[in-house]
Amino acid sequence: MSILVTGGAGYIGSHTVKQLLQENYEVIVLDNFSSGREELLIGGEIIRGDLRNKKTLQEVFASYKIDAVIHFASLIQVGESYQNPQKYYQHNLLTSLNLLEVMLAHHVRKFIFSSSAAVYGEPQKIPIPEDHPLVPTNPYGQTKLFVEIILKDYARAYGLKFISLRYFNAAGADPEGKLGEMHEPETHLIPNILLTLLGQKKEFYLFGTDFPTPDGTAIRDYIHVTDLATAHVLAVKKLLAGEIQTDFINLGTTKGYSVLEVIREAEKITGLKLNYQRHPRRPGDVPILLASRERARQKLGWELHYSDLETIIQTAWAWHQKVATSLHR
Ligand code: UFG
Repeated sequence: MSILVTGGAGYIGSHTVKQLLQENYEVIVLDNFSSGREELLIGGEIIRGDLRNKKTLQEVFASYKIDAVIHFASLIQVGESYQNPQKYYQHNLLTSLNLLEVMLAHHVRKFIFSSSAAVYGEPQKIPIPEDHPLVPTNPYGQTKLFVEIILKDYARAYGLKFISLRYFNAAGADPEGKLGEMHEPETHLIPNILLTLLGQKKEFYLFGTDFPTPDGTAIRDYIHVTDLATAHVLAVKKLLAGEIQTDFINLGTTKGYSVLEVIREAEKITGLKLNYQRHPRRPGDVPILLASRERARQKLGWELHYSDLETIIQTAWAWHQKVATSLHR
């Protein structure tokens, strides 16, 4: 079976490509390398192209026999999406519309979508179930919700089969040390802590110490990127086997850690002390986000193997140290 992976040179995409190759799928990666990295590609057919260009897509679907599509390619910075919503609607929404149009024209009807906990907005219930109200609080989350709405309509009208996977906080790195997080700029908590400890970032800012949580810092549900990748492989199998027609599934652990707990664990694992500055909350940051994971367990048979905080930070630390050494060579 042959899978087209858009954004396959990105963080979660590259970990998924690795597992698809291990399971003997043929993999075609389509990436414009705006944030994807050559270093994160370990196999498969690589096509450099932009999803805003329908001609590129038509060529890809005319050249390869494709059984299913996993659509990772997306911009991901919540803050930037406030400043420049047009960029987000063009990159996240227009690209998805193009991809769906061209794949359906070529009779490809199986689609896995990278969605986000951002579709829920302020949680009204913790842990968050998939049928929670969808009220995104930023343009990034809106783009993910719009695509989900489009998927439902296309399923009804054109027979599209899809699974929309709503990620909570992706973190960690490939346990074999081949892949990891390389965002530019980096905005996520765990890499920012580790890059500061490595001396690659000058300062670490702790955003928000007055949240209504036990230690005043925000609580998040950190999920190991290898477990996330496994969920994609399981989801593809379910679609290809016809066992799922359409679904929306959270990918998280249901267990949360505060920013201070993450800092303490990182200090324990690295043996280093983090100096940080307290800053006000970032706009839009909510106090607590935790996923209900019942549906993922029931529908995908998804189990977690790497998503304890210690393994997440250990694998991320090994990766950042490796990247730091190779950069200084
Ligand atoms: N944080 C800091 N300092 C930093 C980075 C983060 O204190 O340098 C704090 C944040 O304020 C937040 C927590 O650490 O309280 C986690 O922040 P991340 O940026 O790592 O993750 P978010 O929960 O903000 O965002 C993630 C994804 C988004 C997605 C969102 C909601 O990165 O793409 O979850 O699902 F939209």
